[in-house]
Amino acid sequence: MDEKEKHDISPEEIKRQTRFMKVMKSWNDEYFAKTGRRRKHLTVTYGCQMNEHDSEVLSGILENMGYIAADDKKEADLIIYNTCCVRENAELKVYGNLGALKGLKRKKNDLIIVVCGCMMQQPHVVEKIKNKYRHVDLIFGTHNLFKFPELLMKSMKSKDMFIEVWENEGNIIEGLPANRRYKSKAFINIMYGCNNFCTYCIVPYTRGRERSREVEDIIKEAAGLAAGGTKEIMLLGQNVNSYGKTLNGSIGFADLLRELNKVPGIERIRFMTSHPKDLSDDLIDAMAECDKVCEHLHLPFQSGSNRILKAMNRKYTKERYLSLIEKLKNRIPDIRLTTDIIVGFPGETEEDFQHTLDIVEKVGYDSAFTFLYSVRQGTPAAKMEGRVDKETKRDRFNRLLEKINKISAEINQNYLNRTVEVLVEGPSKTNPNRYMGRTRGNKLVNFDGSENLVGELVQVQIIEAKTFFLNGKIIE
Ligand code: 5AD
Ligand code: SF4
Repeated sequence: MDEKEKHDISPEEIKRQTRFMKVMKSWNDEYFAKTGRRRKHLTVTYGCQMNEHDSEVLSGILENMGYIAADDKKEADLIIYNTCCVRENAELKVYGNLGALKGLKRKKNDLIIVVCGCMMQQPHVVEKIKNKYRHVDLIFGTHNLFKFPELLMKSMKSKDMFIEVWENEGNIIEGLPANRRYKSKAFINIMYGCNNFCTYCIVPYTRGRERSREVEDIIKEAAGLAAGGTKEIMLLGQNVNSYGKTLNGSIGFADLLRELNKVPGIERIRFMTSHPKDLSDDLIDAMAECDKVCEHLHLPFQSGSNRILKAMNRKYTKERYLSLIEKLKNRIPDIRLTTDIIVGFPGETEEDFQHTLDIVEKVGYDSAFTFLYSVRQGTPAAKMEGRVDKETKRDRFNRLLEKINKISAEINQNYLNRTVEVLVEGPSKTNPNRYMGRTRGNKLVNFDGSENLVGELVQVQIIEAKTFFLNGKIIE
């Protein structure tokens, strides 16, 4: 079913979905009573932190329904892929993984396979799954995620693949459960959607128009998290700097930061992503004034060439971007900067690319996400002329990466022998005998630690500087 109308969702909707959750829970409890085994879910996430947080909500819902987390797909009774379509690679991975589930479904007929998220907002994707991946049981999109309990029940009762994707967004639904992945830090969505229509980007089509959550709801969520031991919050939105534009009052993102800075128990506040065109002086002031707001800003510039920035519809110039950086560095001397960069946008010449390298050189980023331009069907850039050939793109990409890494390594050298505050996240991913955490500037630090330190702020002396992380020892 495709629903094309505007959605006016009643605040009572959450109660309706809670009823579906209860019914599912009683079914799953009955199964447990009979078999001594809890049904298991595997929730797999692709893409950005928004998606990661959506998956926390999905697994929160599943755990409310009596499912527990599976370690791998073989032991799962329900597998859910929360998809991303920002670049082609992410889509290809989903198709590959869906294909690989065919055999498993054949062996285990009652396995439930669910696909949701950004990819599903594109009709051609849903069509492809309908035709080629008939073993999928349920498809829904980003706008009706809150209906997951109801949709799951409906799909269980349906013989065919059950599909419900809304073309348009509805109003924001508060009160869904979330199964938070980290003990120490938590994501908080402050807004949804995007109105910017950068010409390469699919997000405005999959996540809908920009809408902000009420300040009170955000503060309540932050306070609740703090009460449960969360020390760091990460505020999420496609363009957090334009927070508040859809609310009645005159509150903006800077005001929101000032309010959140007052929440007892919260020690660190981060946010992403910021758009240079909306980064106001007031926001820079708020960042400087609020002691809990970390000295880190992720400020994507995408390209250094004014011609390409115009074609991307980014609404700033290289000069304006660099002057913002100067202002930030003057007002917040300790600020660490990271960015997103696209290489090989249609029409990009070597001269344009040199401007990109120039920004990297001038700003000195701690790290950067670099992307090869990927054609996204339905976006204006997909129709632009001047496709950059693969080899040129690759060559530019490699040169860019080399420069970024060289600068990161140099910046990290400055940390040697310094003592930094680290919030302990858990065991290191690369060395399970070590622990890892992040500084306020978002530097990754590895050290010898113990489980009881997870979620604590510790002082770490840096003894070794690598390109992508620092090694240190905790000082008493
Ligand atoms: N191709 C390559 N990179 C893209 N991004 C968004 N759309 C595309 C695309 N079509 C990158 C941008 C954005 C980040 C989340 O993904 O750099 O900031
Ligand atoms: Fe995409 Fe631009 Fe919106 Fe970011 S600001 S989500 S790049 S359209």
